Amino acid sequence: MFENELRATAQAMVVTGKGILAADESFGTANKRFQKLGIPTTEEMRRAYREMLFTTPGIGDFFSGVILFDETIRQSTADGTPFVQLLSNQGIIPGIKLDAGAKPLAKSPNELVTEGLDGLRDRVKEYYELGARFAKWRAVITIGEGIPTRRCIEANAHALARYAGICQEGGLVPIVEPEVLMDGDHTLERSYAVHEEVLKTVFYELHRYGIALDQMVLKPSMVISGQTSSQPASVEAVAQATVKCLLDCVPASVPGCAFLSGGQTDQQATEHLNRMNVLYGGKLPWKLTFSYGRALQQAAMQAWMGKPENVPTAQKALALRARCNSAASVGKYSPELEKVAVSV
Ligand code: 13P
Repeated sequence: MFENELRATAQAMVVTGKGILAADESFGTANKRFQKLGIPTTEEMRRAYREMLFTTPGIGDFFSGVILFDETIRQSTADGTPFVQLLSNQGIIPGIKLDAGAKPLAKSPNELVTEGLDGLRDRVKEYYELGARFAKWRAVITIGEGIPTRRCIEANAHALARYAGICQEGGLVPIVEPEVLMDGDHTLERSYAVHEEVLKTVFYELHRYGIALDQMVLKPSMVISGQTSSQPASVEAVAQATVKCLLDCVPASVPGCAFLSGGQTDQQATEHLNRMNVLYGGKLPWKLTFSYGRALQQAAMQAWMGKPENVPTAQKALALRARCNSAASVGKYSPELEKVAVSV
């Protein structure tokens, strides 16, 4: 019943030159990041922080959507404008994080499975009524000795498919996010092998559960060497391996792949995306764009520090990352762009 709407929303989420701001940190993650900077971990601080992000002038030129957390989708600006309305007014589609986090997978030490399917249909209905038009569910796959196991990959792929089905029935475009962590000392080749197995399993499960692939967005990690690898891969190698892997695994009817940043530095995340679009832009069946959390926000959060007087500087930092990543999504980024002042 929602097919046409879902198709249009999925296309709009990956429209040329725009990407998604992931601002859906749960209480735990948001508070951890605040604590590191000495920002008080109160509901009002989280609200004020999100208000700073969402009122950044001009972000509608760079963001097609923003992913919200349950607390945030119910909040408003200090002058009473609901965040959902504030975003919609700028042409930005509100989305919602639906998973309840990654929990230890039984009988599989050091592996995680994402929870949150219970009661999901009712939550989807409520979020649709609150104005959300897409959703996110993140599965976490860890690379290590003897892991990931088939058990972990299958359990997570199954949950992603069940979530995606409930979303499509309820009118939300599912972002399907199987994140292969970059923690560890693995090589680019190992990352490739794990990504291939994970993505093929995920699309097999999506098929088994009847998911309409033209009504979803994939949020993959990049094929990249582990953070402590002794053989760090070049930008060129990451771009080539990532696109080759996606071509091998992602059906052409998927409208777009919007990457997570996964712990890359701000500039790395931008450069990798840019290189992929320089090399292959216009020749791929789907768009390649960003759905970054940390790589869009960390500079802004550090500039903000919880102080109202820092809002303009923090907004400049967000606008700069937004503009650079928007350029990268069409292969037009260059490091000089980092130095061109943004007006907010
Ligand atoms: P990062 O870009 O910080 O990895 O976050 C993206 C995200 O939404 C993780 O689910």
